[in-house]
Amino acid sequence: MLARQNIRINALRMFSSSMKTMTTGGLPLDASKLKIVNKSTPSKPRPNDELVFGQTFTDHMLTIEWTKAKGWDVPEIKPYGNLSLDPSACVFHYAFELFEGLKAYKTSDNKITLFRPDMNMKRMNKSAARICLPTFDSDQLIALIGKLIEQDKHLVPEGKGYSLYIRPTLIGTTAGLGVSTPDRALLYVLTSPVGPYYKTGFKAVKLEATDYATRAWPGGVGDKKLGANYAPCILPQLEAAKRGYQQNLWLFGPEKYITEVGTMNVFFAFKNSKTGKKELVTAPLDGTILEGVTRDSVLSLARENLDPNEWEVNERYYSINEVAEKAEKGELLEAFGSGTAAVVSPIKEIGWQGKDINVPLLPGEQSGPLTKKVAQWIADIQYGRKTKDNWSRVVADLN
Ligand code: COI
Repeated sequence: MLARQNIRINALRMFSSSMKTMTTGGLPLDASKLKIVNKSTPSKPRPNDELVFGQTFTDHMLTIEWTKAKGWDVPEIKPYGNLSLDPSACVFHYAFELFEGLKAYKTSDNKITLFRPDMNMKRMNKSAARICLPTFDSDQLIALIGKLIEQDKHLVPEGKGYSLYIRPTLIGTTAGLGVSTPDRALLYVLTSPVGPYYKTGFKAVKLEATDYATRAWPGGVGDKKLGANYAPCILPQLEAAKRGYQQNLWLFGPEKYITEVGTMNVFFAFKNSKTGKKELVTAPLDGTILEGVTRDSVLSLARENLDPNEWEVNERYYSINEVAEKAEKGELLEAFGSGTAAVVSPIKEIGWQGKDINVPLLPGEQSGPLTKKVAQWIADIQYGRKTKDNWSRVVADLN
């Protein structure tokens, strides 16, 4: 048993080290070559209350073509518009597609900052390497995204819960139905002024625990931001919605481990009646969990701000059965999802085996006390009220 496990771990190590050494030949991505074509009439900003997540785009987009023969071509910022692709392009048939999601914020001192873009670029390159699409220099793409935001800076919304959502996307564009490594690709970046991800804003949601479908599995690609990971997740969500739940809670394996919620990472807070301590817990990054930037931010801020005499912060396996048992004993304190789009999304109820597990909320409020604090810690950094390491990168100064 142990020998079999060691063989698997070694095989996975060999596989990931071969991914690290995979290089992209030809010209490197070079932000200094940027060409800009302006839209003739700039749009006016829409009022915040009209912004529906991902429905409005700014005036310009960034596109960069790649070919195996030449490498990365000249980056272009041009008016937002349709793409023209061969209908046999491999993106349409074999899902050579990956994306990222990050946000830019208008800060209290009138600057526009990107939140932890280095983390997104790192993950984007990992996703690209896994599906044989070209990798690139992260700093060059961050610089180009900065230029794109600067171009449409008048469209970045202001205010609590408002930001510019940035969607870098990489697709294989090789024409033909043979299944092989793409020799052409297109990297493009869209920007979308957004408000809260859920129309209801910061409001606790009801989840249904799903054990009849699996989001990701060991040795799979659940930790990569591939479009192909998202489409199969809609049906279980619709099933949950039919029974009155807004999202589903993904379980894995016979142990029914809790992995993610909808398209987000998930955290639970427990009380340990024996030690008297509290625990903030999320699933470990074992290759089946998306390496969420918000997940990482929550963990860092919790480790920094919570009193270790009162709290433990753990990345460990835990199951829906453990949550149900703890709820019975009054030891379930809080639960929330974390992701770029919704940032922190409180949970109030989990449907499991025909019963609802109640997650306590503060009286008359939409979350528990820790969830509220975590959301505040992150927002303070995103909106420039506080600083932390190099988390906020200034891309435009509006003063
Ligand atoms: C996120 O919140 O991180 C997401 O990936 C959501 C996105 C798919 C809309």
